[in-house]
Amino acid sequence: EKGGYEHFMLKEIFEQPNSIADCMRGRLKANEGKLVLGGIHEYANALTNAQRIVIVACGTSWHAGLVAEYIIEDFCRIPVEVEYASEFRYRNPIINEGDIVIAISQSGETADTLAALELAKSKGAIILGVVNAVGSSISRITHEGAYLHAGPEIGVASTKAFTAQLTVLIMMALRIAHRKGTITESKYHELLVELESIPAKIKKALDVNDQIKEISARFKDARNFIYLGRGYNFPVALEGALKLKEISYIHAEGYPAAEMKHGPIALIDEEMPVVFIATRDSSYEKVVSNIQEVKARKGKVIAIVTEGEETINQIADFVIEVPHTSEALMPLVSVIPLQLLSYHIAVMRGCNVDQPRNLAKSVTVE
Ligand code: F6R
Repeated sequence: EKGGYEHFMLKEIFEQPNSIADCMRGRLKANEGKLVLGGIHEYANALTNAQRIVIVACGTSWHAGLVAEYIIEDFCRIPVEVEYASEFRYRNPIINEGDIVIAISQSGETADTLAALELAKSKGAIILGVVNAVGSSISRITHEGAYLHAGPEIGVASTKAFTAQLTVLIMMALRIAHRKGTITESKYHELLVELESIPAKIKKALDVNDQIKEISARFKDARNFIYLGRGYNFPVALEGALKLKEISYIHAEGYPAAEMKHGPIALIDEEMPVVFIATRDSSYEKVVSNIQEVKARKGKVIAIVTEGEETINQIADFVIEVPHTSEALMPLVSVIPLQLLSYHIAVMRGCNVDQPRNLAKSVTVE
């Protein structure tokens, strides 16, 4: 059932070109300009006219929410707040009748996320779900929702659910933006075409597996890691750090790259591996300066870059190439090498990758 892979996690990482194609099947046909999300139908108007959207989630799903915040604000011009469900439910949050609250959850059973939704529902919010597990508790209490259709995720560390969550949230945002007219027709079509090409690009990104194995051997005994990214790649930095912590038990922190100088830069010495997500986008030049700042302090830089990169190769210690895509879709591609890096490091350290210590696949207690 592991399909010839040594672990479920590796199988699920490699499944992503297919799981994302499954997620888009019947929903997206770029050449026809077609984008439908069956699960978000009755509330499509409410979403389009929303004054505010609140996203509640935990862990990796919360990271997907952060990407969604950038996308929805960027394309739909609707203010978005992303909350840890565990904080939201206990802090007397402001929820008004008709507000939209979206829960993101792979399992659909996370206790804090479920309770946050119940609270929002009791205050008159419209509650929507972006869930993988069909028939799960969250999918049952929400007014409407879109399933991921990513297939069961067995590895405790979430991989294919994350990329499917991003895919659904992007489709949702593009639907709203198109209805609202906050995106130009040409940009809309360009993004539909680009989204359709993502499975092939992820397949290409997976080609770095052997190279990542070599890098992993070099850093498997590190005691700390820092992950840095900006813009759409900032949540990817958080996700890369979380993956490493969970399965390899190496301490890791993710930061927006520019925050580094406000504290974490003090940690950098010749022992510190720093993973930069430095793809070609609007913050590229700034990220290059951040890499230089780390190198000036002798940190070891592993950079995720866009194919054909020439500048960063001169500065970074290791460079991993991924295919180019639109800025907003980049997390779908740039997270792939980070999933592989955490996987190989954990395996080399002899860790139980599919069932890391102290963790459960679904956290049904608070
Ligand atoms: C990370 C991980 C957890 C979950 C979190 C939320 O790899 O698996 O952080 O993302 O427990 O779980 P769901 O998405 O099932 O609500």
